[in-house]
Amino acid sequence: MKRALTGIKTTGSIHIANYLGAIKPAIELQEEYECLYFLADLHSFTTVRNPEELKRDTLDQVAIWIASGLNHKKNLLYRQSDVSHVTELAWYLACHTGVGFMEKAHAYKDACAKNKDVNVGLFYYPILMAADILLFDADVVPVGKDQKQHVEMARDMAGSINAIYGEGILKLPEVKIKEDVMTIPGLDGQKMSKSYNNTIELMLPEKKLRKKIMSLTTDSTGLEEAKSMKDTTFGNFYNLFGTKDQFNDLEKRLNAGGLGWGHAKEELFEIINIQITPLREKYEEIRKDEAFLKEVLANGKNRALEISNKTLNRVRTALGVQI
Ligand code: TRP
Repeated sequence: MKRALTGIKTTGSIHIANYLGAIKPAIELQEEYECLYFLADLHSFTTVRNPEELKRDTLDQVAIWIASGLNHKKNLLYRQSDVSHVTELAWYLACHTGVGFMEKAHAYKDACAKNKDVNVGLFYYPILMAADILLFDADVVPVGKDQKQHVEMARDMAGSINAIYGEGILKLPEVKIKEDVMTIPGLDGQKMSKSYNNTIELMLPEKKLRKKIMSLTTDSTGLEEAKSMKDTTFGNFYNLFGTKDQFNDLEKRLNAGGLGWGHAKEELFEIINIQITPLREKYEEIRKDEAFLKEVLANGKNRALEISNKTLNRVRTALGVQI
């Protein structure tokens, strides 16, 4: 069975784009692949500065993965920081990677262009990510479009090590992008992202979810006027949750006039809420049991270390660290 591996940073609450773009498609791979999922808490330190939030986000995320259907007995859920082999491999990779190559990374270039405070961790980010992937001999890495370049960089880094020390030391991973949910819009129509402040958190209580949906950007067409949701932020968002028939039915009523955006948003809220409620209920149940969540992580850690230890020994031997 081929191995799929993917991780999500523990920076703030999981939002709908994380769920639809990363968690849900990753969970769907469980039948076809041996799946490794991890909480990329080390990556979070490029931005996170609050230990209490980090702990909370970590446990929240474990509960979300399990509520979403992760089979933690068959597959693996672990925390990146529990596998310190990752940082050792990252160092070996760093010493074989050119600065010029790293300067081409989009996330780093964007941050520099925006004159953000760029820490060394952000520059190093793709190396740590390559170590995450290569340490576990991943065959495929399911990620969003924005992470494609990082996976390609991991391939290149594996290629460099193999070219010097021998083929087969590191496995070259394939990127896997779920085409039909590539970009998920946020409340303002831009890509949903924490950095744009336009997210809808997945586990919001019903009232807060409704409030967020009601704040979706729409134009100022009056109640009586004919409207269309085609190619609007609202329409794009509706498409994520409503069926084609539901979309066409609402579109017809909007075209006819007499239906305001407020009503349309109410309908959208109902559709989303019906889909999220079972997940939210499961999540709330699991989240209460912190001892269980910690046990899942402890178990994940042990099993992850068994795999990572083998790969790292292969690398150490090849590089001459193992005498
Ligand atoms: N960089 C990814 C993100 O921001 C998270 C991540 C870290 C990851 N390491 C990874 C994803 C390894 C896949 C494989 O979403």
